[in-house]
Amino acid sequence: MKTIKPLIALLSTACLLSLLISSCKYDNVEGRFETEIFNKAKSTNGYVWFKYSNISLQKSSGSGHVQPLLKTRYNAVAAGQLDSLGRIKIGATFPEESMVVKELLDNSGNIEVYAVLYKKSKHPNADSKGWVWGYYNKDGTVVISSALKGKDCSGCHSQSGNEAYMLMNKYYP
Ligand code: HEC
Repeated sequence: MKTIKPLIALLSTACLLSLLISSCKYDNVEGRFETEIFNKAKSTNGYVWFKYSNISLQKSSGSGHVQPLLKTRYNAVAAGQLDSLGRIKIGATFPEESMVVKELLDNSGNIEVYAVLYKKSKHPNADSKGWVWGYYNKDGTVVISSALKGKDCSGCHSQSGNEAYMLMNKYYP
């Protein structure tokens, strides 16, 4: 009996430790993915603006956000789905690595939040259409985890008049 107690103690400590390590690993992988999306979204390098204009737009009547102003841009891959006026083409299909970023701005035009759609269909955080939904403060902290697969976003973005989830065409015709 004497030797069993320490053995149990040792085993449970080892168990706890391995649990701790594996949950930390999970956090790191998730954290790295969020950072990767945020960094891609924050950089405006190679991006093209909706309607080829970077003026701030008043949020639309359909917007679910508090910020009064917004700007939407498309990375080089996604920009292939814009028409000659810089709107989403009818029947658009976005290739892998497409990124669409909506900057949410305060009244002075300062960015407060980034709302992101990222086509990464093999990623575990992608929804059934292959999109990852990201939502970040300007300092990169996560507002809504991409692991939630856009459950707070995709319903509204599936409303009538959406084009491959995109709503800019509908609200800014
Ligand atoms: C209540 C409806 C609603 C919800 C919920 C919503 N959005 Fe949107 N979203 C809009 C509308 C409307 C637009 C068009 C621009 C605007 O007025 O804000 C838009 C635009 C966007 C765009 C620019 C691309 C485009 O054309 O649609 C992105 C990216 C985006 N939203 C991401 C998100 C993310 C990420 C979430 C969830 C965290 C989310 N949205 C939740 C309504 C919504």
